[in-house]
Amino acid sequence: MIVNEFIPKPYSHLLENGAVAYSAPSNIALVKYWGKKAHQIPANPSISFTLNNCKTSTTLKFKKKTTDGFSFDVFLEGDLQTDFKPKIEQFFKRIEVYIPFLTAYHFTIETSNTFPHSSGIASSASGMSALALCLVQIEQQLNPTISKEFFNKKASFLARLGSGSACRSIEGDLVVWGAHANIQGSSDLVGIKYPYEVHENFKNYRDTILLVDKGEKQVSSTVGHNLMHNHPFAEPRFAQAHSNMDALMAALKTGDLNAFISIVEREALTLHAMMMSSDPYFILMKPNTLEIINKLWAFRAQTGLHICFTLDAGANVHVLFPDNEAKEIQEFIANELSVHCQNGHFIEDNVGQGAQPIKI
Ligand code: PMV
Repeated sequence: MIVNEFIPKPYSHLLENGAVAYSAPSNIALVKYWGKKAHQIPANPSISFTLNNCKTSTTLKFKKKTTDGFSFDVFLEGDLQTDFKPKIEQFFKRIEVYIPFLTAYHFTIETSNTFPHSSGIASSASGMSALALCLVQIEQQLNPTISKEFFNKKASFLARLGSGSACRSIEGDLVVWGAHANIQGSSDLVGIKYPYEVHENFKNYRDTILLVDKGEKQVSSTVGHNLMHNHPFAEPRFAQAHSNMDALMAALKTGDLNAFISIVEREALTLHAMMMSSDPYFILMKPNTLEIINKLWAFRAQTGLHICFTLDAGANVHVLFPDNEAKEIQEFIANELSVHCQNGHFIEDNVGQGAQPIKI
């Protein structure tokens, strides 16, 4: 599938060399993307909060070359990384038609994360979006007429081809990806900023990430997405995601925190229920994931505070809560939940406004 809108006209000249840099955040889905079609097209729409503190910063240096094919080196926190190369090579292959200068340069990709590499927090969303943004920034240097709107759209389009959920990491504070009948402008090809009114209750929403298991996941999300093909519950699940989007839109508008909690927790548990009922089946939650969920539910019942959880494709727990309840909830997390984290580690984050260029 070729999308002509993102194929640039031939450039009048190429720069000899240069460098660009971007920082891009991670995101946490409220309605989950799980299952995809060819060309990274999602099986259902999803919506996420863009995070603020968990980010990847990438500097992309480029230098004209005369050899054929792709040529690049990747450094993570200053160290040469060979294990990232196949994923980036595959990304370059997928986007070459949209970024024709990819074979004209040797690239040096220098990247660093604000969160520890071995935290179990996936860096693919922030990493792929930062790299996509750097590439579009080079394109903008070759063609300065590109508008801000097109810039973000193309960056999201490219990021999606690197890692699906990465297309939701360009802008803030709520991003929708995947066509939904009641969300104007929503698309399977790019993430868009949520276009409707959002109640004050959801401004500066908090996400404290409890690091339950910092190890490598036993089942990658690529494998997990593929297991949704022929999954006996796939069709009802995709339909449920559409209706959960509708219900979430209503809660976002009215500020109904209880409705928000029930949609978000149901989405998280449904995601894991899909994994547990795949063929082959698998479990990514750990005993401490369940300890945390049970304690969180008891605390919510006892205090009436609007604390809830969501999960991504791993054992870590994202604890979500409104800004005005932060003090009591943060105390509860530090005193009661952190004991279930590996080495007591957790990361306090909140909703952010998206990626930023870095001056170099
Ligand atoms: O972007 P991927 O292929 O790593 O898939 C991410 C899937 C979930 O994090 C589980 C859900 C989501 O919508 O982000």
